[in-house]
Amino acid sequence: MDQEATLHLLQDPAIRRFYTNYVGISNDKDLVRHWQAIRSRLSEYGPRYKCINFYKFVGSRLASRFYYRELVDMTKQGCQAPVVLDLGCCTGTDLRRLMFDGYPGDRLYGIDLNKHYIESGYDLFRDRATCPITFIAGDILSTTATTTPTSISSTINNKFTQKAGVVYTGSMIHLLSLDQLHTLIHHISTHLLDPAGGIFIGTHVAADTTTSMTRRGNTKQFIAVQDFKDVLEKHQFVDIQLCKEPRRRDPDENSTTLDTFWLSFKCRLVTATAAAAAAADKEEGDNDDAVCCDDDDNDGSSNRCGGGGSRSSSSGNRRS
Ligand SMILES: C[S@@+](CC[C@H](N)C(=O)[O-])C[C@H]1O[C@@H](n2cnc3c(N)ncnc32)[C@H](O)[C@@H]1O
Repeated sequence: MDQEATLHLLQDPAIRRFYTNYVGISNDKDLVRHWQAIRSRLSEYGPRYKCINFYKFVGSRLASRFYYRELVDMTKQGCQAPVVLDLGCCTGTDLRRLMFDGYPGDRLYGIDLNKHYIESGYDLFRDRATCPITFIAGDILSTTATTTPTSISSTINNKFTQKAGVVYTGSMIHLLSLDQLHTLIHHISTHLLDPAGGIFIGTHVAADTTTSMTRRGNTKQFIAVQDFKDVLEKHQFVDIQLCKEPRRRDPDENSTTLDTFWLSFKCRLVTATAAAAAAADKEEGDNDDAVCCDDDDNDGSSNRCGGGGSRSSSSGNRRS
């Protein structure tokens, strides 16, 4: 299995390019030795995650998702790229790939429960002295109600004062119970993400019916698509896009008839307060238009600004 997994990685052109140009290792044997050494270190601490056992930490899974291109293109919109926050970032592989693809590293933040994974990331990518990404060790399920100084809210808020423009979770949500999922989404929508259009993206394993399964001592919660959508809607996420992809069953799942798949999602947070503020801004803008229209035409006729269509087109011309 080991050999099959590493051979597969060696054959991936994106991984080869990344390790040659970013990490500085291009020789097959050196690469495999390097990955094996890091995997041994990662396995010393924490649960036996599949992403560690099967070398998934080596390459970016984020880069293959339907929302990835749009994320990379956010750097091309002429203004400062939004802050991206990766919850459960493990070794920081996805954030480094995003940076390698052009995203400014100082706009990238990763959070993981396990400090050891973050530390191992610096060794995996050999960039301890140079990596501009901010990594924070902490529990994303801690809420502001937690009064400990190490609670993630206070830690994150000390790190940056603005909210994230994008929050990403990869292979994390299926580790949570339904209650924990509610806590996480509440935390994202109230503390971490821009309430006026912040984007929440991610991918996890889901099922047709919400079910939990314990394997190798780890309990996973496969949340049904509709249940997941309900949680997002409850927390004021809109424009929810979902994409199902087939998933290979683990050998120890063969006894179950449960149908599981990868679920990728993208949605936008628009809280009621942010929507009301945007409506007030718009109204103020519309009133400005009306004044401008009178000024421009200089005939004192406010009726000329009365029709929706003609008003927007005339104000549009003036601005150009
Ligand atoms: C299965 S790994 C996925 C890693 C990576 N995001 C990926 O897509 O390959 C789950 C990661 O979430 C982290 N994690 C789990 N619970 C967490 C929590 N409550 N707060 C922060 N990180 C957590 C784990 O330490 C682990 O690194």
